[in-house]
Amino acid sequence: MVFRNQISFKNITFGFDDKKILKNVSFEIRKGEFVGIKGKTGAGKSTLLYIIAGLFIPQEGDILIDGLKLTEDQIVAYRKLIGFLPQQPFILNASLRENIVFGRPFDKDKYLKVIRQAGLQEFIEKPDYMERYILEGGKNLSGGERQRIHLARVLYGDHEIYVFDEPTSNVDLKTEKIIYNTLIDLIKNGKTVVVCSHKNTLLKGADKIVELENGMIKHIKIGGKEDEYIEKYDKP
Ligand SMILES: Nc1ncnc2c1ncn2[C@@H]1O[C@H](COP(=O)(O)OP(=O)(O)OP(=O)(O)O)[C@@H](O)[C@H]1O
Ligand SMILES: [Mg+2]
Repeated sequence: MVFRNQISFKNITFGFDDKKILKNVSFEIRKGEFVGIKGKTGAGKSTLLYIIAGLFIPQEGDILIDGLKLTEDQIVAYRKLIGFLPQQPFILNASLRENIVFGRPFDKDKYLKVIRQAGLQEFIEKPDYMERYILEGGKNLSGGERQRIHLARVLYGDHEIYVFDEPTSNVDLKTEKIIYNTLIDLIKNGKTVVVCSHKNTLLKGADKIVELENGMIKHIKIGGKEDEYIEKYDKP
């Protein structure tokens, strides 16, 4: 599937049982854009990200790729465009390398690059980094380590669009800056990035910020300059 200009979400409604979580949500993601998603806890942000990632199918409304309606038989191809980091990371009972490469061909340079991009540098510095064994569900890892390993796995996929749900909710400020710089690098390389975060520092500089409230769009803010943000962010 090719995505040339934009993905439009038109009047999206989605819920579980009788409870509507998203109501009449409309907005668009342009190619190369940095889109922020914000809103209070329970507003429906993660649910919207699952829709954007093609993992939940809207009950009403349409998704249009460059103006053409996404059909059910295209959904698998659509999902491949997207690298999705869920709010709850998922860890295999396997080595660090298997958790990141995830059955795809092994490319050492790419592997080391995504480790750095995900702020997992300290893992590389340990001599056993390639085969470090991870207990079931990442029980021997901290929350922030689990999150960064999943992030590295997503980055390893070389996707056109990245959708990150709270990518820095469990990391310190130093690691957050590394991850923020990774988001900016993706944008600079022409990728499209959608980030949901409660932290304004991670969203400032976004081309567009979509704010949700009770499953509806409260506000869409357009604009913001990335360079200004980096300068502010790096100040102590
Ligand atoms: N599988 C589910 N079944 C039923 N209700 C659900 C399910 N998943 C989410 N919800 C409900 O949908 C609403 C929105 O949840 P969602 O996870 O999208 O919120 P959020 O904005 O991401 O919140 P947070 O900031 O806490 O991550 C909540 O009221 C939640 O209880
Ligand atoms: Mg959420």
